[in-house]
Amino acid sequence: MHAPILAPSILAGDHANLASSAAVVEQLGLSWIHLDIMDGHFVPNLSFGPQTVAALRKHSKLFFDVHLMLDEPHRYIEAFAKAGANEISIHIEPTYDQLGTLRRIRELGCKPGLVLNPGTPARAVEHLLGEVEIVLVMTVQPGFGGQAFRRDMLPKIAEISAWRRQRALNFRLEVDGGIDLETAAECRKEGADTFVAGTSFFNAPDRAAYAAAIAAL
Ligand code: DX5
Ligand code: ZN
Repeated sequence: MHAPILAPSILAGDHANLASSAAVVEQLGLSWIHLDIMDGHFVPNLSFGPQTVAALRKHSKLFFDVHLMLDEPHRYIEAFAKAGANEISIHIEPTYDQLGTLRRIRELGCKPGLVLNPGTPARAVEHLLGEVEIVLVMTVQPGFGGQAFRRDMLPKIAEISAWRRQRALNFRLEVDGGIDLETAAECRKEGADTFVAGTSFFNAPDRAAYAAAIAAL
């Protein structure tokens, strides 16, 4: 089982000073940051694009975990790789060449990941599990931070975790949406090892204690 990783989501950071939000994460000794990219089509919200990621790259050595919430992710992976992404996760739901896009992400020197919306069953990604470094199970409907964790996603996490074990695969199993210390522990029990946290991390009264508690899961 992978050691737990806390990936704070900069969506809940200071958008007038993203570098300072990334610095907060780095100063705690954490190694990952989660970057949410939204196109206003796949999700009903907009965030930021590759130019912002490239600008942030100059101020941060963190591992950039880039979550593309885009209808046509294949059109943008080169731009995000060039901007400094370390990992690029694409959703399974839109219609495009998912396998070709995952392979292209790897060719570009990034780790490929696949994401499932709450309404998407685990079997939708089953045939691609051997191609990815990350499977991200959304525990809210993507688009906005600050939503309530969906406990009905726990069986899906368990299902994917079981496949990983049975097939001796090694991808990370990430959860995103409504994650806090309590819900992270519930996800950990089902096999999750990578925890995206926006609101609960940036609003935590003691972020160091928060990070330590995740590491101790
Ligand atoms: C939701 C994003 C999340 C978001 C999580 O569309 O994918 O990464 O930042 O925010 P919280 O932790 O506030 O639910
Ligand atoms: Zn995300």
